[in-house]
Amino acid sequence: MIIAPSLLAANYAHLGRDVRRADRSGADWLHLDIMDGHFVPNISFGPAVIRAVRPLTKLFFDVHLMCSCPEILLEPFAVAGADEIIVHVELGDRVAPLIWKIKSLNKKVGLAINPPTAIAEVQPYLDQIDLLLVMTVNPGFGGQEFIHESLPKVQQADAWRRERKLSYRISVDGGVNFQTAAECARAGADTFVSGTTLFHARSLKTAVKKMRKIVNAHDPALADLKL
Ligand code: DX5
Ligand code: ZN
Repeated sequence: MIIAPSLLAANYAHLGRDVRRADRSGADWLHLDIMDGHFVPNISFGPAVIRAVRPLTKLFFDVHLMCSCPEILLEPFAVAGADEIIVHVELGDRVAPLIWKIKSLNKKVGLAINPPTAIAEVQPYLDQIDLLLVMTVNPGFGGQEFIHESLPKVQQADAWRRERKLSYRISVDGGVNFQTAAECARAGADTFVSGTTLFHARSLKTAVKKMRKIVNAHDPALADLKL
């Protein structure tokens, strides 16, 4: 199980401090949300920020491109220190060349799918990716409510993974709290992106530990426990 705090929920006046907090929290990855103000109605940060925080941690950088034109961004993010680059399946026939380009940059490949998009859209790419990111909110903002209708997509992705003997990770992103993380784990998710719940907790370290315990147990009842 991978726990990936999302830097979108960090304090931008203290980004370096928050990256170091994530580094010491026991988290496995750091999730970095890139928004271009076009694919989604919000803007976050770019390669310069990733380059600036890269020396602060050895955490795996999981870079989620919510961008209309990732073609021009793959290389800058690869050079800046991304370990994995995630593009959206909604880009249609541009997805195959994008996957190829990410691989040629020697980075792990992720494919994301938005809540309104049918899960069948990702099927042709499943044997080419390292991670499938099931969006559990409409992307663009942190702190939104988890969309439960996304859970059957996680189950389907897990079923395909078993049937086809593939090994891509199944990640969930958006509204992932202690309760919904357990539901996602039950549905087959193994990678948990969480911004608000983890970064806004009094102790990031305790929150990561609690989320790990809950997803390992697949038990939403543990969400109410103080750990
Ligand atoms: C949403 C982003 C998420 C976001 C999740 O557009 O892709 O990664 O950081 O934030 P929370 O956990 O607050 O919903
Ligand atoms: Zn994200």
